[in-house]
Amino acid sequence: MSERSESIRVLVAARDRAVRDHLRRVLTSTKDCIVTGVAVDGQEAVHTAGVRKHDVAVVMLDLPIYNGLETTRMIRQYVPAVKGILIGNGDVSPDMTKQAMLAGASACLSSTEIDSALLSTIKDIYDPPMPPLAPPCNIIAVTGGRGGIGKSTVASGLALCLHQKFPGQVVLLDMYTQFGDISTMLRIEDPRPLVELQAEKIDLELLQSYMSDHQSGLKVLIGSIVISPLDALGGDLLENIIHELKKGYRFVLIDLPPLMHEPVLRVISLIHELIIVTNRFEVQTVTDAKRLLDTVAPRYIPLEQVKLVVNRVSRHDSISQDQIEKAVGVKIQAMLPNQRNLAGDPMRGNTKLANALHQLANILAEEPSQLMPDSGQE
Ligand SMILES: Nc1ncnc2c1ncn2[C@@H]1O[C@H](COP(=O)(O)OP(=O)(O)OP(=O)(O)O)[C@@H](O)[C@H]1O
Ligand SMILES: [Mg+2]
Repeated sequence: MSERSESIRVLVAARDRAVRDHLRRVLTSTKDCIVTGVAVDGQEAVHTAGVRKHDVAVVMLDLPIYNGLETTRMIRQYVPAVKGILIGNGDVSPDMTKQAMLAGASACLSSTEIDSALLSTIKDIYDPPMPPLAPPCNIIAVTGGRGGIGKSTVASGLALCLHQKFPGQVVLLDMYTQFGDISTMLRIEDPRPLVELQAEKIDLELLQSYMSDHQSGLKVLIGSIVISPLDALGGDLLENIIHELKKGYRFVLIDLPPLMHEPVLRVISLIHELIIVTNRFEVQTVTDAKRLLDTVAPRYIPLEQVKLVVNRVSRHDSISQDQIEKAVGVKIQAMLPNQRNLAGDPMRGNTKLANALHQLANILAEEPSQLMPDSGQE
């Protein structure tokens, strides 16, 4: 049996008081078990199994109302977490054991084995509860069909919002090898660029030595400081980076260049969400968003994992929300208002833009957020 810290909780179901007392005596002879319920017939056993928490039900075959087989079957159906041990009166035939197994019992004993085998059988069949699973890493890339539409603003804004909610669990990865904006936008000084890494030598600890801290504590990885070749961050390297980051972080936000070449497409094939940024005032950004979408979905990422975000929304916009959704074929997830005098960090100040980014981050963190920002502008 696996390690456990608490006694195994056992429900006892037997018609005769003498048998119930006997079972209770055996079960409480060690600290391994605790009797958490007693039933005198099948109906009571099924009811008790459902209303209180038990780990194992020890069920005598000759129960009134529902016999032991029926009782075991119902307990397994209604409360599958409770394991059943069926006890036959006198010897147990192979056919009886088979029927017990078909009813969902984990073991079948004869009443003559109660003293010698019941405790060890309970320990053998008991499954300690699993520890809760750590939430998986969510990798979110932000891109768009053109330059200057707010990809870095959205990626860094979302990373900062998520970092506020999940401190220490978020990394922002600037994947640009040329003209990356994140270090300037977030005032990251002297970053150690990823282009210096070699694909085959990566582990999480090494990657952490390349991370810079934003003043909020957000971890930031910068692709390159100088103008490096476009493929200086190759597909294998990026795949290894993502693989390692998954081990240590809950969210990885990627500022993804709008280049449809192998490294970018490889990254898109590895991520969980792709955010495509567009706007409502230049029809070309919508056309480009559609072209980009058609290139990547469904070949590299399922369409359901693509989110459309409209940036720099203002009342002067000439294209409607409906027109964008029809043209691109994806529902808009967020409308980010145009923020007058925005310089750098999009989360600075209590602005409508910061608010809208928080709401989008809530959606990405899968927290309920009913509000969708309207097309309010600063
Ligand atoms: N919602 C907004 N309101 C006002 N200004 C914005 C908004 N979003 C982005 N900007 C501004 O637009 C400019 C371009 O934004 P950003 O650098 O994020 O775009 P980009 O798509 O990453 O550009 P590039 O293609 O060069 O990487 C920046 O000056 C930024 O401050
Ligand atoms: Mg950028």
